[in-house]
Amino acid sequence: MPALIDQIEPLKQAALAQFQAAEDMAALDQARSQFLGAHGQFTALMKQLGALPKEEKPAAGKQINQAKGELEAALAARRSELELAAVLPKDPTDFTLPGRRRGLGCSHPLTQVIEDIVRSFRKLGFVVADGPEIEDDYHCFDALNTPADHPARDTQDTFYLDHPTPRLLLRTHTSSVQIRVMEKQAPPIRIIVPGRVYRRDNADATHNPTFQQIEGLYVDRGVTVGDLKGTVEFVFRELLGADTRIRFRPHYFSYTEPSFEIDFANATVRKMGKAWLEIAGCGMVHPQVFVNVGYDPEQWTGWAFGFGIERIAMLRYGVNDIRLFYENDQRFLRQF
Ligand code: DAH
Repeated sequence: MPALIDQIEPLKQAALAQFQAAEDMAALDQARSQFLGAHGQFTALMKQLGALPKEEKPAAGKQINQAKGELEAALAARRSELELAAVLPKDPTDFTLPGRRRGLGCSHPLTQVIEDIVRSFRKLGFVVADGPEIEDDYHCFDALNTPADHPARDTQDTFYLDHPTPRLLLRTHTSSVQIRVMEKQAPPIRIIVPGRVYRRDNADATHNPTFQQIEGLYVDRGVTVGDLKGTVEFVFRELLGADTRIRFRPHYFSYTEPSFEIDFANATVRKMGKAWLEIAGCGMVHPQVFVNVGYDPEQWTGWAFGFGIERIAMLRYGVNDIRLFYENDQRFLRQF
């Protein structure tokens, strides 16, 4: 048996090797108790210290303590290595690779135009109203004074649902929401209605079977065509530029009397080689419409208008095909 002092270094080396070899916490713990546990080899060595001759004790004691310190440090180091290994992914990760970028979305160009229109009308005290896209023929036509033999009610123009009473259809215009709101609310009324409408058109550069409209309705006492024109002019100038002029041309709609088509002129229109471009329909609410919703036409007056959103968006962004708005092609949408 070698002298105690000569056993320290080899035993320390053996312990260090085992600590390093431990592949998991259980193995490390096992190695720890083998050397440093109550019945461990290294502990046994320390116990023998007391039996040494007095003059050998200090040197051996110092060496043992130093070795023990080293072993405990090695144990702690290996323990944290194993802990780290346990939480890291098994496959090596290359932290220098560039991250994956998540694309930021943006509003659809039609949504942007609708939001701008709504913002302008809000300045004038209008609020947004809403109605169903699946409508009955009463709200879409009859209540708007559109007779049963009117071409708009033709199955060639309108998508009808297979539901005879009431006769259901996909609304062909947002004007139906005028009726819905007036049925529920007493005057005065100041609403705008952005919404999707449907018509049996074949898709081409300027037509799509579904598109968006915005409807406006103003009902109060003593409302005039002047109010209508002033409002329309304010909003279109905000929307299409300060150089925008508008004009009213007499027209016919069954739910307004008198009725007008609105044309506008500005630099964009001139660039297209035209003097005026038709943009909307409007008029003074027909007394029969008021009767249909239970308003007294002797007391109440009003105006209404409606126009297509895509037309405005196409002019504004220089888009030449309406179908682009509905194809959801990222290369197109990303530009807005
Ligand atoms: N509903 C009409 C259309 O679809 C637009 C319209 C014209 C709405 C005149 C109105 C109006 O409120 O007064 O083309």
